[in-house]
Amino acid sequence: MRLINRKKVVVIALMMAVTFGSIAFTSPSSDHPPFKNLKVYAKDIKYDSLDHLMDYYKVALNVKCRYCHAGSQANPKKLDMASDANPIKDVTRKMILMTNEMNEKYIHTINHPATDSTAVQVVTCNTCHRGKAKPEDVVVK
Ligand code: HEC
Ligand code: HEC
Repeated sequence: MRLINRKKVVVIALMMAVTFGSIAFTSPSSDHPPFKNLKVYAKDIKYDSLDHLMDYYKVALNVKCRYCHAGSQANPKKLDMASDANPIKDVTRKMILMTNEMNEKYIHTINHPATDSTAVQVVTCNTCHRGKAKPEDVVVK
């Protein structure tokens, strides 16, 4: 029983790390305006946590912010992070929900009786993307 509980704690900690990117220990920041258009993340997500997630996506997909975010109408050289004009942003929302569901519904429920191991792997963007915006297909001939 103890082992199972410990496993669960590890899984939950890992899932939180994946979901929130990093656990920010800063106090709620009042030094930035509230985010305007979050549909997947909690509305009160900490600035640092969102920042870490965005940086992680850049690395996992090897893209720039502009790959997902549309240019600002007022100044096309700048990005309008809250805009949904770039359709890739909505694809990404689906990807986040899909990844979370894979972990919650499947990975999280796996027992490892054979190894009695507490090590649990989680699915991340990088599990599939590995530095590519579109994961490579395996062509079956
Ligand atoms: C792989 C796609 C992707 C990349 C790359 C990306 N973002 Fe995002 N970003 C998103 C998605 C999706 C959301 C909306 C999340 C939601 O709906 O909860 C978002 C939301 C945001 C928001 C919140 C805007 C608001 O007010 O609602 C900011 C700020 C932001 N991103 C900044 C950045 C920065 C800076 C970069 C580059 C370092 C970046 N993003 C890279 C997908 C991406
Ligand atoms: C289980 C594998 C898997 C996981 C996990 C995954 N993706 Fe994807 N992703 C795909 C596949 C497959 C496609 C191509 C879908 C298509 O045909 O458009 C894709 C497409 C995308 C695209 C669109 C690329 C383009 O140019 O059309 C973005 C952006 C993206 N994923 C972001 C993410 C992010 C961010 C995460 C983590 C939150 C993530 N993905 C997790 C498999 C995955």
